[in-house]
Amino acid sequence: MWQVIDGLKIAIDGPSGSGKGTIAAMLGQELGLPVLDTGLLYRFVGWRASEQDIDLNEEDAVLGMLKQSVADMTWKAEGIFFKQAGDEKDCTSQIRDENAAASASKVAAMPQVRTALLDVQRHIAKLGCIMDGRDIGTVVLPDAQAKFFLTASQRERARRRWSQLKAKGEDVDLAYVAAELKARDARDTERDCAPLEKAVDAIHIDSTTMQMDDVVERILNVLERRKLINTK
Ligand code: DC
Repeated sequence: MWQVIDGLKIAIDGPSGSGKGTIAAMLGQELGLPVLDTGLLYRFVGWRASEQDIDLNEEDAVLGMLKQSVADMTWKAEGIFFKQAGDEKDCTSQIRDENAAASASKVAAMPQVRTALLDVQRHIAKLGCIMDGRDIGTVVLPDAQAKFFLTASQRERARRRWSQLKAKGEDVDLAYVAAELKARDARDTERDCAPLEKAVDAIHIDSTTMQMDDVVERILNVLERRKLINTK
């Protein structure tokens, strides 16, 4: 239905629970572009470090592990795949849990970890994609033709995250999810290296009271107005 310009890169940033994953997936479906969730990379690093009992305060140790593991890791729109003992496994759902999220936000504050993951992200984005994360518009793809910064109130984001976990069968308390989200928000926004922030040329969308369909509609309007997409 849509014709998309060659090499279109769309950056979507925002805090946890802002709806960016859902919006990116819906847009990807609509536009036929691959969707790359950069949070999975940090989750993968956090998960591997925990599995190997690496102290998450030791940046050099985490980096050493990352350099070894990255050769056996494949990151694509479908998720993260990791080769162990010659066998490649899809570890995407495993790293989407709250433990991996907590480890991820610790390793994500390490400048050397971020630098090591930068090339992986830029390389995969070359042919065009929708990429979501925290620093896509500011650091990873500053040249993206369209940038969106999604937010929602902390209360609404905690509620969304909680219902996602419930839907997956995880028995979690809303107050716990809200406290974890608040701690993660603080780590993501207060870190020195590539903190979560809106790129100056990004469009801010607050989805607190919006339906996801309406957010997608708004983004499609912007893309069409800028002639980045056309109806076929
Ligand atoms: O989006 P998420 O919850 O899967 O991200 C997991 C953690 O990784 C989160 O604490 C933020 C961090 N992250 C980041 O620092 N930069 C990105 N581009 C993506 C995620």
